[in-house]
Amino acid sequence: MTIEIIGTGKAVPPNRVSNDDLARRIDTSDEWIRSHTGIGARRLADEATATSDLALEAAREALAMAAGWKEGPGREDAVREAAGTLDLIVLATASPDYYGCPSTACVVQDRLEARRAAAMDLTAGCTGFVYGLESAAGLLSVNKGRKRALVIGAETLSKLINWNDRGTCVLLGDGAGAVVLEKTEAASEGPGRRGLLRTILGADGAGVENLIIRRGGSRNPFKAGETVEIPPHLEMNGQAVYNFAVKAFTDTCTRLLEEEGIGVDHVALIVPHQANARIVQAAGKRLGIGEEKFFLNIQDYANTSSASIPIALDELNRAGRLRKGDLIMTIAFGGGLTYGGNLIVW
Ligand code: UT7
Repeated sequence: MTIEIIGTGKAVPPNRVSNDDLARRIDTSDEWIRSHTGIGARRLADEATATSDLALEAAREALAMAAGWKEGPGREDAVREAAGTLDLIVLATASPDYYGCPSTACVVQDRLEARRAAAMDLTAGCTGFVYGLESAAGLLSVNKGRKRALVIGAETLSKLINWNDRGTCVLLGDGAGAVVLEKTEAASEGPGRRGLLRTILGADGAGVENLIIRRGGSRNPFKAGETVEIPPHLEMNGQAVYNFAVKAFTDTCTRLLEEEGIGVDHVALIVPHQANARIVQAAGKRLGIGEEKFFLNIQDYANTSSASIPIALDELNRAGRLRKGDLIMTIAFGGGLTYGGNLIVW
């Protein structure tokens, strides 16, 4: 028995905002953003678009692929049929449609008409998708009756940004990525093995203050009659997160390889969380791994938090860059602070 990815999908809003566009609104420049982060542009959701809208679009793409739909008519039927086979929806997000209740996963479950599926959100910052894969795989494994899960990373963090804080607003973008997981009879060990092999999950709660949305929760609720100058927004200690990220990245990669008993040569591609190209370069240097081993699309989408890895997986998959049997590593880090990585045989 193993847990395989049988479909991938992504959705990004059509509105592309370049670094130059931002430089017309705040005190920044294309040169600073590119040289400090590798970001060239980001996609931003309009007022009417919530996280579940992007999640739904990515989910439909992934379900259509899982159903074997290619092109032409019949997509809606394929999606509906595949949605009906889901036992579980796990949606990782730091920018849910509603705070606390209901989950964004339930909104998606309803719109997909995935009647049999349990649905829940998962909060693990930018590591949400890595946590989500392991959580869904675990829930499929412990129950004979569960066979299929949808794991989504979806964000509209642009709605939780202080657009006057140039230290954070240039970094983030909106988007969603999704995968369909299936429990299959393929081998999980030995030659010909497939699926999710191994996952590392970790957290360092001492770093809660380093990436935080202070207002709106039970610690700092809004009070009757209160007016706010800036809506709830993400605050970040960039240096602290940078240092944490490089160490978490290096340690996670080393541990995954050691625990699996393999060298990095066995890994076809490392798909990191797209937070900052400099973090990937610094970690790669420490690990002695060449840049060609890492997939980066941060230049197009900026940091889409929990959506960045599934968006990257979908781009790679649709471009034919993930071949059956390839060993793929994911690595992520983010708010919490959290970190983790997966080893997946495609
Ligand atoms: O998904 C996880 C979430 N976050 C991250 O992974 C982010 C981790 N941190 C980082 O990637 C980096 O710390 C940043 C990209 C956020 C910042 O890079 P940095 O090299 O650490 O810059 P800094 O904060 O030390 O700032 C250097 C200078 C400052 O000016 P002074 O004080 O030296 O005059 C900043 O005010 O750069 C200035 N600066 C900017 N200048 C132009 C900061 N943001 C900008 C900006 N445009 N957008």
